[in-house]
Amino acid sequence: MSQQPIRFDDGAAYERGMGVWSQIAGMEFLDWLAPAPGLRWVDIGCGNGAFTELLMRRCAPAMVHGIDPSAPQLQFASGRPGLQTVVFKEGDAMALPFDADQFDAAVMALVIFFVPDPAKGVSEMMRVVRPGGIVTAYAWDILGGGFPFEPIQAELRAAGYNPPLPPNAPVARMDALRALWVDAGLESVETHAITVERSFTDFEDYWDANTAMGSIKPALAKLPEAELATFKARLRARLPADAAGRITYPSRANAVTGRVPGA
Ligand SMILES: C[S@@+](CC[C@H](N)C(=O)[O-])C[C@H]1O[C@@H](n2cnc3c(N)ncnc32)[C@H](O)[C@@H]1O
Repeated sequence: MSQQPIRFDDGAAYERGMGVWSQIAGMEFLDWLAPAPGLRWVDIGCGNGAFTELLMRRCAPAMVHGIDPSAPQLQFASGRPGLQTVVFKEGDAMALPFDADQFDAAVMALVIFFVPDPAKGVSEMMRVVRPGGIVTAYAWDILGGGFPFEPIQAELRAAGYNPPLPPNAPVARMDALRALWVDAGLESVETHAITVERSFTDFEDYWDANTAMGSIKPALAKLPEAELATFKARLRARLPADAAGRITYPSRANAVTGRVPGA
């Protein structure tokens, strides 16, 4: 099960599941980063535009470009209200389709652990951002137990399965992120731990939102029908619900930022 590639091929399903989580974490990330208005941004691995939307709503950017390898995600992003001026393009973090020094800020929101060579991804961000500009990222602390899908993954592990992880999950640990930024030669490196919380009206709401996308969908599709019923019952028991059945739990991400040298 762990060998399966994680696909992002359904922007709407992503929105209901990870898109909401992304925006909850993204708001705290931007409160911490507090970027100046009027910057030229590139959103790398912009996906279905969940974080791009926050950039537009909260950062008064001069310009935003978004790149992602997934055409269906980009299609959803292009249809979001308020993103008509964003330039979306298919592309890879390790070979950005931009000239040097074109942006004031580059961001990877929940992306760095998917990039096959994270150091190459960081060096590409540094290349396209002007001296003195911002190179920043945040990612779920999966190995620290902070992944929003951790309850489902824990139940899969308990059932004897090995749920798929992004190829570079360890890079999202705080020490690893800091080392990646420092070793790349970025200056004024700072880190921040993000803790967020999300509520679901009941177990069905939780299940529908969190099982239709990303790594979880193919993992659950492999469970035999009879096993699935047991799995759901165990998962329901694992989740914290209040008297009305409302489920609320936290997730954690790590954030890092630095400045391109030479200003
Ligand atoms: C968890 S989603 C994050 C999407 C969006 N940034 C957000 O905050 O909701 C991860 C995204 O990384 C993209 N991705 C995977 N590998 C990538 C790569 N090598 N370069 C750029 N993006 C990549 C995926 O297509 C997916 O859209």
